[in-house]
Amino acid sequence: MQYRSLGNSGVKVSVIGIGCNRIGRTVDVVGTKELVKRALDLGINFLDTADVYGSTPGASESVLGEALAGLWDRFVLGTKVRNKMGDGVNDLGASRYHIMNGVENSLRRLKTDHIDLYYIHSWDETTPIQETMRALQDLVISGKVRYIGASNFTAWQLARANGIAEMRGWSQFVVTQEEYHLLKRDLERELIPYARYANLGIVPYFPLAGGLLTGKYDRGDAISPTRANYVTPFLTEENFQILDHLRAFVAQRERTMSDLAIAWLLSEPQVCSVISGVTNADQVSVNAKASDWTLTQEEIDQVRETLEGQRF
Ligand SMILES: NC(=O)c1ccc[n+]([C@@H]2O[C@H](COP(=O)([O-])OP(=O)(O)OC[C@H]3O[C@@H](n4cnc5c(N)ncnc54)[C@H](OP(=O)(O)O)[C@@H]3O)[C@@H](O)[C@H]2O)c1
Repeated sequence: MQYRSLGNSGVKVSVIGIGCNRIGRTVDVVGTKELVKRALDLGINFLDTADVYGSTPGASESVLGEALAGLWDRFVLGTKVRNKMGDGVNDLGASRYHIMNGVENSLRRLKTDHIDLYYIHSWDETTPIQETMRALQDLVISGKVRYIGASNFTAWQLARANGIAEMRGWSQFVVTQEEYHLLKRDLERELIPYARYANLGIVPYFPLAGGLLTGKYDRGDAISPTRANYVTPFLTEENFQILDHLRAFVAQRERTMSDLAIAWLLSEPQVCSVISGVTNADQVSVNAKASDWTLTQEEIDQVRETLEGQRF
């Protein structure tokens, strides 16, 4: 396994991580323990969850709390706050109030005394960003949180948030988690140039486009209800046409579509880790194998030409 710095921080994360949004939904405690064991065997140390993930809010964190007992020093776990966790008017958002409640609830579910990486799940236009950054700073000082991250922020939002933190000597976001994969590359306009400038890490989500980029779906396939939410939005004719072009590219190299999806993301140096979601341990092994493919500049250019021939 290879490791990269978590953005502008000293902690190292495996280039292959595990997205945990199926944990506590389609993957139970036994299945999660298998994923965790396989991760350890392969040198994977980066796990991604959120307060809201699971069949009910908190379920993913609760299952991880069971599965990771005694293993906290082997993993770098990221979780998130900001989304709606209850019916109360303050049960969501990036206010000091909700962040302080949110962290206590996450710690209780995860059965630990610290969170390695605490993300703001998305920008909250109703809370001054100074309030959010100050609350996060206090959590870092208290030791409850080690590093902070953003998610679904634009480049200007990241620059504003980290600019304020820098001026005041507070902790800055070391990474941002954004949708980025072969079929969605909007990030390349503004966010990636900013991330390179500021040495901000990028954790791409939906790296496999919900499973479409594994190559296992075809036009007209019936999708099981447990997968429909995730993959259906990607099953467009336009995306299938891109896949048709890329199939030849991977076949020539005796690689798979998911190898390409993962290796292509890792060709961007600001990408710290590819956190594909998994539903069983064998998927972890398959995804880990992709990281042994380092695309040449010629291959990167060829893929880019194929994608740009289709759309930006
Ligand atoms: N920050 C945000 O707003 C945000 C939003 C969404 C997701 N995320 C994070 O990003 C992570 C990744 O996103 P995602 O899980 O939704 O989508 P994804 O990684 O693009 O796709 C994951 C799905 O593909 C299938 N799969 C994975 N590896 C496979 C393999 N080797 N062979 C065949 N099928 C395979 C699995 O589904 P099946 O087995 O059911 O086919 C898996 O659940 C999430 O787990 C979550 O942690 C963050």
